[in-house]
Amino acid sequence: MEPLLIYGAYGYTGERIARTAVDRGHTPVLAGRNPERLHSLAADIGVRSRTFALDDDIERHMAGIETVLNCAGPFESTADPLVEACLNQGVDYLDITGELPVFERLARRDDEAAAAGTTLLPGVGFDVVPTDCLAAHLTDRLEEPTHLSLAISATGSLSGGTLKTLLAGLGSGGAVREDGHLRAIPTGSKSRVVDFGAGNQTVLSVPLGDLTTAYHATGVPNITTYIAVPDGVGHAIRLGRPIERLLSTAPAKRLLMGLADRFVEGPTEAERAENGTIIWGEAWSETTGETVASTLRTPDPYDVTVEAALAAVEAIDDVSEGFQTPATAFGPAFAVELPGITRTDR
Ligand SMILES: NC(=O)c1ccc[n+]([C@@H]2O[C@H](COP(=O)([O-])OP(=O)(O)OC[C@H]3O[C@@H](n4cnc5c(N)ncnc54)[C@H](OP(=O)(O)O)[C@@H]3O)[C@@H](O)[C@H]2O)c1
Repeated sequence: MEPLLIYGAYGYTGERIARTAVDRGHTPVLAGRNPERLHSLAADIGVRSRTFALDDDIERHMAGIETVLNCAGPFESTADPLVEACLNQGVDYLDITGELPVFERLARRDDEAAAAGTTLLPGVGFDVVPTDCLAAHLTDRLEEPTHLSLAISATGSLSGGTLKTLLAGLGSGGAVREDGHLRAIPTGSKSRVVDFGAGNQTVLSVPLGDLTTAYHATGVPNITTYIAVPDGVGHAIRLGRPIERLLSTAPAKRLLMGLADRFVEGPTEAERAENGTIIWGEAWSETTGETVASTLRTPDPYDVTVEAALAAVEAIDDVSEGFQTPATAFGPAFAVELPGITRTDR
């Protein structure tokens, strides 16, 4: 996998990935825009670093690099310049985004990436490795699947970067995939009760990256993605839509982003050990009337992200060029080969 460049290396998740990469015997080049934070981390773990912002001449900093792992989010503002440089330099691009618009834009560059001999593989973190692999597994179990639903039930706290990414997406509304096309619907406007295998929970529709990745991985034309919410929250979300619109204004977002920067540290090791998720998926065939369901249990999403991202960069040389998802790149079993992830067919 060498030589690997990790951009956003001194962020909460980037640092954990960089440290684990070195523990696994790799010698990544660390990169980011803040020289002090970058040099201090690189010196601490004994690797080289390259300081550059994303409005610099990025291509100059790609010399000798074969793979970029982008950990700097929100990816809405970091993915495009790095992808551009990777396409121009024939460098493979991976990131840990979960942002739907980023997947959509990168999927549209499939032909360009193939022509450049480059693999574009966004989403090698918790979003979307387990869900993408579950989607592919479910559609392998069913003849002529036409509908797919995925839902995540999670516990635990967030890092500042994750919170800022969620805030950046506020007010952009929800979506589902219908007949192969993304259709805008208000966030939370679809709901159902799901049996996660550990009790029933109400889930609300949210526009996860799987609306693009699962479509690409399975070809199923109708996809809805959900998250589980505590009782009463669904009602509050519907009542709160006017507040969501207020929060989506630029001054409100700036204020909230500033607060996220100042006050959110990210989960500690002890907190991560307590966290976990259950992912439920269901595929249905309108043609045969058959339905299959499966669940995945995972450790803390940040721990999954570190393991999944490194497993992906370690195997990237064998992946075809063009736009890929975790399941198209490594197959449906990729998620269950990661530590602590188990699957149950229901
Ligand atoms: N897929 C998943 O499941 C998953 C898991 C974990 C994290 N994430 C995502 O990964 C991202 C990072 O999360 P985190 O927890 O590591 O957050 P974090 O601790 O806030 O780190 C964010 C990193 O991104 C850099 N960055 C942000 N905007 C940048 C820009 N425009 N140009 C250059 N660098 C920029 C930051 O550098 P500065 O300090 O210089 O701004 C910092 O190094 C978030 O978007 C989060 O949602 C996804």
